[in-house]
Amino acid sequence: MQITVIGCGYVGLVTAACFAEMGNRVACVDADEERIAALQRGMSPIYEPGIEGLLQTNRRAGRLTFHPQLGPGLSHSDIVFIAVGTPPALDGSADISQILGVAAQLGVLLDSPSIVVCKSTAPVGTACRVQAILDQLCQRRGLGWQHRVVSNPEFLKEGAAIDDFMRPDRIILGTEDADAERTMRQLYEPFVRNHDRILCMPRRAAEMTKYVANTFLATKISFINEVASLCELLGVDVEEVRKGIGADPRIGHHFIYAGCGYGGSCFPKDIRALLHMAREHDTELPILTAVEQRNQAQKGWPLRMLRKVYGERLAGCTVAVWGLSFKPGTDDIRDAPSRELIDELLAAGTMVKAFDPVAGDNIARAYPAAVARGQLQLFSDPYVALNQADALALLTEWKQFRQPDFALMAQLMRAPVIIDGRNQYDPAVVGAHGFRHLGVGRLPVDAPAPLLRKVV
Ligand SMILES: NC(=O)c1ccc[n+]([C@@H]2O[C@H](COP(=O)([O-])OP(=O)(O)OC[C@H]3O[C@@H](n4cnc5c(N)ncnc54)[C@H](O)[C@@H]3O)[C@@H](O)[C@H]2O)c1
Repeated sequence: MQITVIGCGYVGLVTAACFAEMGNRVACVDADEERIAALQRGMSPIYEPGIEGLLQTNRRAGRLTFHPQLGPGLSHSDIVFIAVGTPPALDGSADISQILGVAAQLGVLLDSPSIVVCKSTAPVGTACRVQAILDQLCQRRGLGWQHRVVSNPEFLKEGAAIDDFMRPDRIILGTEDADAERTMRQLYEPFVRNHDRILCMPRRAAEMTKYVANTFLATKISFINEVASLCELLGVDVEEVRKGIGADPRIGHHFIYAGCGYGGSCFPKDIRALLHMAREHDTELPILTAVEQRNQAQKGWPLRMLRKVYGERLAGCTVAVWGLSFKPGTDDIRDAPSRELIDELLAAGTMVKAFDPVAGDNIARAYPAAVARGQLQLFSDPYVALNQADALALLTEWKQFRQPDFALMAQLMRAPVIIDGRNQYDPAVVGAHGFRHLGVGRLPVDAPAPLLRKVV
């Protein structure tokens, strides 16, 4: 098939590369000319395991092309995917102006009936608005046919995006049009060969499904974080509780790890967008309001721990930060917990030495002034970042942080303090190396349970 993908970000690029890999001809369009120029040189503008190889193979085979704008050459696509951003507006709603702008361009440009697919996460009713724009423009141009708009929300996870796209656990198709459904099923057939995982539903239900999936996962995280804060008071290790509840298959082990909060380009903005949709319909969603509040509080946890250790002296300290992306496997720093901690430390006058396997450049670009004055230093070696540090804050659970050389760390640091924002370390193991370990809902190694102390 001839496919156009508009928006070459985390979702658009993966979508384009995976469809091209199946033999389709895919034209990618992005308004960011630098991004397109990099892609034309065979370089990926994002870090995603496996993406560069797929882009290069399919570009060389002539199945993948990159364009800085929608031009006449792209006007005969069978299917056009819209994968542009839907960032949060000031009132929390999803800003869908990029989608609507693309729809208006397509309405003028497309010369034959196409299937236009909304892949971006967008509020309920967006696909219908895109349909209305296209219908109006077709009518104005005197064309005797219509485009068909499908909602096909994306469920890939950054860091495992190629695998998720190639082996999806489900594909949601929102359409009421039998022909569009048939074509979309044909397109996705190579990805679901062993058994059908395509769910077809009305467009509004597809749009709602995406928001509910993300907000449910965020709810699990905030729930365990709330439990962790009570565990701290009760002298219970939340890790024991996590294993205990995860063994129940109705609960499961996924997304119940206590930590310093979720970030990224999806969960925070999607919760706010769903809350806004509710407000527009004069209703409240108290559970999701609490989920967001808990996450905000949780992002402040590393700083609270640093203040607990150093109090007012934090200003004169040096804090090493390991892990800057919002999760392992990506260079995406949007809404990452590292941003909140770095902001606070810089404001407090603390020196920050940071390391991340792939996200360092993005952080350097986000804090040019702090980097220029030397208050924020980025390192390409995690151990060098620890030199003379008064504490290490671990914020992203990259695999390489799991079994570091604790003896070397203790030698390098000025004070052996670990703020373990992802509960990566066994307090007893790091304690044996002389570290003071503060985990989320975990017990200090030698601390008697607070309740027992009270009884005594
Ligand atoms: N990142 C994820 O893990 C993920 C997962 C599922 C769904 N989503 C959703 O997918 C959508 C895209 O997310 P993303 O992370 O890929 O965003 P992104 O910001 O990485 O990419 C969006 C791209 O669209 C381009 N763009 C904006 N306006 C354009 C226009 N008029 N013409 C051409 N290009 C234009 C931007 O330059 C950018 O490269 C969002 O709605 C997001 O919520 C994201």
